[in-house]
Amino acid sequence: MSVVGNQRQTYLRLAAELRPHWRRDRAFPQRLQALLARARAFGARDRRLYRELLYTTVRYAPWVEPLLDREPEQAAAAAAWLASDIPAVRAYRAALTADWPVCPASVAARAAVLRQSADSLLPVWLKDECASAFDGLELDALHRRASLWLRAQTDDLEPIRSEFAARSWEWRHNPLLPDAHEVLTEADLTQCDTYRQGLFEIQDLGSQLILATAGLPAGGYWLDACAGAGGKTLQLRRIIGPAGRIDAHDIRTAALDELDRRAARAGFGNIAVLKSAPSGSYDGVLVDAPCSGSGTWRRAPHLKWTTTAAMIARHAASQLALLARYAAHVRPGGWLIYATCSLAGSENLGVISAFLAANPEFTPAPPACDFGYEHTGHGLALLPARHNTDGFYVATLRRR
Ligand SMILES: C[S@@+](CC[C@H](N)C(=O)[O-])C[C@H]1O[C@@H](n2cnc3c(N)ncnc32)[C@H](O)[C@@H]1O
Repeated sequence: MSVVGNQRQTYLRLAAELRPHWRRDRAFPQRLQALLARARAFGARDRRLYRELLYTTVRYAPWVEPLLDREPEQAAAAAAWLASDIPAVRAYRAALTADWPVCPASVAARAAVLRQSADSLLPVWLKDECASAFDGLELDALHRRASLWLRAQTDDLEPIRSEFAARSWEWRHNPLLPDAHEVLTEADLTQCDTYRQGLFEIQDLGSQLILATAGLPAGGYWLDACAGAGGKTLQLRRIIGPAGRIDAHDIRTAALDELDRRAARAGFGNIAVLKSAPSGSYDGVLVDAPCSGSGTWRRAPHLKWTTTAAMIARHAASQLALLARYAAHVRPGGWLIYATCSLAGSENLGVISAFLAANPEFTPAPPACDFGYEHTGHGLALLPARHNTDGFYVATLRRR
């Protein structure tokens, strides 16, 4: 069998193995990773090819699944045609889709070629939660491979520049933020010396924009109440500078240990990990709440199929409780920032509206910089299309 014939067989075998799980298993990426790691015969390029084809299959599941049953060779060709244009895919796609038209950029045009419905690529419940996601540009952005972003943690970019040049990696500065850079080469940034030295962190541009919307002053004593492994803690520390201090809290103590390591790597001394519940009051509290993750569907397309309307309602209820609990630690005149990586209105504006109704001592603060995003009543919905990011929501409040 030809190389491409073999690759097609392998894709179909992997798809058959994963198919029972991609609409059920929220740990699908780990499952796929383990499956690819077990295949000793695969080189790095094979892994990149199959990962891209399988992610594409899940992203376009309503279109590709029926073909897997009826016409597996067509399913393989469709997955190749819909896949992102990365080097690992090119030769395979060219061989399988030689007599297909060039794949159009827009999802609606792709749907027309395949005689499918574009709306079927998003769950029905999303219509009530984020109707704009079904608009052409947002739908296209949600079905584009996510870019790789880094956030510099140094003003001197020269060591990063020379390491990337030595590895022939391309990157470019994003004009929205001084520290944001897009990496154009498919690269494992964690292998870099400059990464190990804490000179940059990997962070989606949308995630970087969240704190930048608030226009925070230097200094102050902050609580990062849901700090996780500290992506935003480190960015907050860079914004408030050495005069500021942060207590980083989370219920996952292993994540806080990782945060500690990252803070040490960055040379940030004034971040304290808080494993027990916080007490006292702060100049600012950041609640980067656990959420449905619907803003991250480009990186985790299986979440489109494993998330339900009932889950969104449960998230919204616990987000409101969490926000109320940590808001109690904001001093009079202080800041409260609420953020999610969700597209769902119930988890975003819904939570903030309910919180403001029950807590009149807080008032919404208009964003210092809206980066061109539409205002949604209170806060900003950072939808993917405007700046090619994951989707987020942020609201900044002040205590009277
Ligand atoms: C969206 S993630 C935070 C991501 C992190 N801020 C970052 O930028 O990398 C939400 C976090 O909330 C944490 N969490 C869940 N329930 C919590 C609670 N009751 N109190 C504090 N943190 C909680 C989760 O463990 C998770 O790490």
